[in-house]
Amino acid sequence: MKTTVPGPTYKEMLHPELLPPGIRNRALHGAANELDPINLFNITWRAGDGAIRHVVLPKELTGVEANIIVLVGLYFPSGSHKVGPAYTTLMEGELAGEIEPGVHTMIGPSTGNFGIGVAYISKLKSYPAIVIMPEQMSKERYQRIRQYGGTLDLTPGSESDVILVLERTEHYKKDAKNKVLAQFELLPNYRFHRYVTGRSALEAAARYGNGRVAAFASAPGSAGTLAAGDEIKAAFPECVVAALEPKECSTLFNNGRGTHRIEGIGDKMVALIHNVLTTDYVALLHDDDCVAGLEFLERRARLVEKVLGMAEGSLKSLAGLFGISGICNVLGAIRIARHLRLGPQDNVVTIATDGFDRYPSVLDDLEQRRNDLDVASVFRGGDSRDILDVRPADQKQRLFEYKEQVWTGFGYSREYLDRMKSQSFWDGEFERIDEIDEGLVKKRG
Ligand SMILES: Cc1ncc(COP(=O)(O)O)c(C=O)c1O
Repeated sequence: MKTTVPGPTYKEMLHPELLPPGIRNRALHGAANELDPINLFNITWRAGDGAIRHVVLPKELTGVEANIIVLVGLYFPSGSHKVGPAYTTLMEGELAGEIEPGVHTMIGPSTGNFGIGVAYISKLKSYPAIVIMPEQMSKERYQRIRQYGGTLDLTPGSESDVILVLERTEHYKKDAKNKVLAQFELLPNYRFHRYVTGRSALEAAARYGNGRVAAFASAPGSAGTLAAGDEIKAAFPECVVAALEPKECSTLFNNGRGTHRIEGIGDKMVALIHNVLTTDYVALLHDDDCVAGLEFLERRARLVEKVLGMAEGSLKSLAGLFGISGICNVLGAIRIARHLRLGPQDNVVTIATDGFDRYPSVLDDLEQRRNDLDVASVFRGGDSRDILDVRPADQKQRLFEYKEQVWTGFGYSREYLDRMKSQSFWDGEFERIDEIDEGLVKKRG
């Protein structure tokens, strides 16, 4: 039997400084060779100096008084924070005795970044990996998966055809040697983001304004990242959690469906692990604005600086930090701050899941499509009718029903789905972290 390659506990991902010094040092130096398994211990929002990696956007860019704080996910091993849930899902499976190296093959249903994470973690932990994803995602994604030795199984369509990915996954489940790291369904994704991302967000925000978090905005794919909102709300109950969606695929907003170009989000479903109880608003963003926003920051920054009266080079520090969904999150955070009339003491936190490295091909395509980009309408635009309050009971009911419709179709019982309608379900799952960490420490010896 092959031995399990060890990795960090939840607590060590939040506080890598708690790692034994030998491991921490090796991890910091191991970053140069990304395929060294020591990099499992670099799954964290923190830089080597212990600071949470984030930027605060210039107010000339956002046009709002609130501080817009963006956690930067690009520096995670494999280039996006999605490696975190890929790791925790595999790690918890190993702990439960359900996944064994030398026996099982990892299956990663994804729109790309989670698949990249699954291929990467599998490589480091010595498992074969098959990534199931749509055929029309950015070509940089496929390259990364191949680079990590993952096998691709492509389904028809694009971002909003994730249901086809889930259906293809069912086929793999028939063979017991395949283990599905099911990001849309399994709670290690919730646990990683509520604990590691949520607490990192709280720590980053503590330095700004009144030190609290007035709003958290995130565009869900699996809705894992949105779980950070649960932890932020636990600290600051007044915090407003906003789920962002492409206007072209407004599923949470009004059960709408359509195709769009914001890779990683807007999958025409309510993910099973989406705790809709804590989602307060749903806001819609045009996919074109998100792609154009990326174009502005990456390729026309000088123009943006001129139009907004910023000193030359003011935007330089943002170069490379965002992908399209990161821009979606930034624009959503700005619109929510404006909608809520937040002031200079208020903090809005959002997330950049990945960086520009996986989108040059998408912008090349944009240049052929559009020449009428308008800085003000992209960064300062938006319509208050595109922001929906989903706190009322009838909205929660609508979201529960959508979830039931999708997930009973994949074999989940009504009884399980009913339990998800209570916050105690989510808190109970979160509280399992201590026991999981203890089990992992024991197993590592
Ligand atoms: C680029 C990108 N942005 C956002 C998301 C959404 O994150 P989550 O699945 O945690 O909701 C994903 C998910 O794969 C992604 O790849």
